[in-house]
Amino acid sequence: EIGSFSHFMEKEIFEQPVALENAMRGRFSADGSTAQFGGLNLTPIEVRQIDRFAFCGCGTAWHACLVAEHLIERFARVPVEVDYASEFRYRNSPLDGNTLFFVVSQSGETIDTLGALREAKRKGYKVLAINNTVGSSIAREADGGIYQHVGPEIGVASTKAFTSQLLIGAMFALYVARMRDMSFSDGVEYVKALKAAPDLVRKALEQAPRIKEIAKRYAQYADMLFLGRLSLFPIALEGALKLKEISYIHAEGYPAAEMKHGPIALISEKCPSVFFAPKSEIFNKIVSSIQEIKARNGKTIVITTEGCEFPPGVADDVIYIPDCHEAVLPIVATVPVQLLSYYIACERGCDVDKPRNLAKSVTVE
Ligand code: F6R
Repeated sequence: EIGSFSHFMEKEIFEQPVALENAMRGRFSADGSTAQFGGLNLTPIEVRQIDRFAFCGCGTAWHACLVAEHLIERFARVPVEVDYASEFRYRNSPLDGNTLFFVVSQSGETIDTLGALREAKRKGYKVLAINNTVGSSIAREADGGIYQHVGPEIGVASTKAFTSQLLIGAMFALYVARMRDMSFSDGVEYVKALKAAPDLVRKALEQAPRIKEIAKRYAQYADMLFLGRLSLFPIALEGALKLKEISYIHAEGYPAAEMKHGPIALISEKCPSVFFAPKSEIFNKIVSSIQEIKARNGKTIVITTEGCEFPPGVADDVIYIPDCHEAVLPIVATVPVQLLSYYIACERGCDVDKPRNLAKSVTVE
């Protein structure tokens, strides 16, 4: 089943273009201006009446919730709350009647997420699930939802399940946006951008040999930072989580501008940073954050979009991803950090598919 790949994780990283195609198949309207979902069990009028979304998940799925928050607020202009499922259960959060509750879980068996679902239902909320496992506990207990359709994920570290959750979040943001303020033509452009995602991920995967070379030079550090802003802050968290899980290097994700409020104390030649610095209105601010690291002798790996240039000495290593629509950027930007963690873990001789202390689905609290 693993074919020519060395690990399931590697196979699943390279499978992502096809996984994304499967996750979006049949889910665009005939006029090509919005997304459609068969299993929400809500009428369009009910969706239009919602004035807040609440999202819960654990680990990687929680990162997908954060990206969904960004895109729903940005494009649909509806407020979103995100909670760790394990915290939501016990903190008695006030939610109001027009809130729609989402749980996100690849396995559909994570006990904390199932607990959050039950707590939300107990309080009378409709709960939808973004889930990859037909017939799972979460799929059965939710009132409806969206299946990821990416096939079983075997590697313990989540890869294709994560990017498909990002895609579904982006599609759901479009669906809600088109019921509100988004125009037909902006919808058409958004749909085209989503349809391009598999090919953009293919292009990002072409960087694999280069990332493998870079990984050799970063495999022996004990600490690493991942920094990103806006929709790429959750991807910085995801990059740090992947590295921790499979290579056992201590890593932290932060919004780049938070560095100066504490974490910058960690920077030295012993602690490299991975920066997301794509083309954007705040590109120059990110470049200044990178310069702060360089002034303290920190090594920098910079993930940026094609066409961006950096002043000399700012980036020790640059990884290019294709330029893309804001809704697709988090998906494409995930690929280099997956590959970087994977190759670093291989370089360190780690058991990538079965990292120590971890299980594929966490069914105890
Ligand atoms: C990270 C990872 C975990 C899971 C988390 C939730 O690579 O796999 O953080 O994302 O345990 O799992 P699901 O999505 O099955 O609820």
